[in-house]
Amino acid sequence: MVDVLVRRDDPRTVRCDPGEPPRTGVPQGSVQFAVERFGLTANNLTYAVLGDAWRYWDHFPAPEGWGRVPVWGFGRATASGVDGVAAGDRFFGFWPMSSRVTLEVAAGPGGLADRSAARASLARVYGRYARALPETGFPPGLDDVAAVLRPLFQTGWLLADRVAREGAGVVVLTSASSRTAVCTAAAVRAHGDPPELVGLTSSRHAAATAALGLYDRVLTYEEVGALPADRGAVLVDLAGDPDLRAAVHRRTAGVLRASVVVGATHWTRASFASSGLPGPEPEVFSAPAAAAALDPSSARRIAAAWPDFAATRAPGLLTVEHRTGAQAVTEAWAALLDGDVDPRRGLVLSL
Ligand SMILES: NC(=O)c1ccc[n+]([C@@H]2O[C@H](COP(=O)([O-])OP(=O)(O)OC[C@H]3O[C@@H](n4cnc5c(N)ncnc54)[C@H](OP(=O)(O)O)[C@@H]3O)[C@@H](O)[C@H]2O)c1
Repeated sequence: MVDVLVRRDDPRTVRCDPGEPPRTGVPQGSVQFAVERFGLTANNLTYAVLGDAWRYWDHFPAPEGWGRVPVWGFGRATASGVDGVAAGDRFFGFWPMSSRVTLEVAAGPGGLADRSAARASLARVYGRYARALPETGFPPGLDDVAAVLRPLFQTGWLLADRVAREGAGVVVLTSASSRTAVCTAAAVRAHGDPPELVGLTSSRHAAATAALGLYDRVLTYEEVGALPADRGAVLVDLAGDPDLRAAVHRRTAGVLRASVVVGATHWTRASFASSGLPGPEPEVFSAPAAAAALDPSSARRIAAAWPDFAATRAPGLLTVEHRTGAQAVTEAWAALLDGDVDPRRGLVLSL
């Protein structure tokens, strides 16, 4: 049993502590879960980088100065003190990088909701655990794809709605190779009469990103000067690099309608702060806030799009790789920090 811990002030420093032992009984209102498998992408690295500012460290307790990076995936109840939850029941949600975790939860339609005081003031979406059943959107055989892509798919569809509100002729995405960008591009295309989609990426990812066939054009970061500047544009910034953001603003200044800052994949120099740029003031996008503001019919539309996306599009977007054990997890974390995980690799990890 192990907890993988990351220094809150330095994501490169990692240690493994003994985790929770398996329990035969838990207090009323709690469930112990075995964290079965989880995806690892730059999104999780951003959780660590923004751990203090966006309170990602507050989800799971850790020793002073250390944090448990949240990950998305599947947990199996191993001991239950909650009516309606039996040992063996499986849930999809937000877990720590740990073998086991005990959560205070209440059972409701479709799943569980965290009811601990510690998480009460955090975004509600992170405290929801969906039953992993076909009728709740988890078709058989697609758990690995869900572990890697499901939250990024949701973000992509939410971003497509945000982008559509501008009625722009061009959408520019930075870190276009990232799974979130790719899901956003797919979602923008699904809207019908899509704008031109231009992906900006590093030269090492340009060819593979273009080969996905989701962008009308893929440019490298050195080619910002070739961005179209003759039609209304929206920037969707997943890299978070302030110099790159400024370069896109300067190039599209007269036509930029919205600058939506979503991510921080270029984490060593990323910043969400920017002022004095030509064009609109950048706005920070939060998928949990956008999800909370969704009307019920949009929420149903997005949820209904997932099974088909997972079954038909996802296999072309990533190749699942399983890794097991604390050493494998810490190695994967280090590779992620170094930018050494090709975005077409879908890392699915277990401890
Ligand atoms: N605001 C929200 O609510 C929200 C929701 C979901 C995701 N996000 C954010 O969206 C971003 C993308 O997440 P993801 O999980 O989709 O990422 P991902 O698929 O793992 O992205 C991989 C790509 O990110 C860039 N990258 C990754 N590590 C890097 C490093 N160490 N140095 C430089 N570049 C690196 C590279 O893209 P290039 O070579 O193309 O630059 C790489 O191909 C994250 O910052 C995530 O937090 C935000």
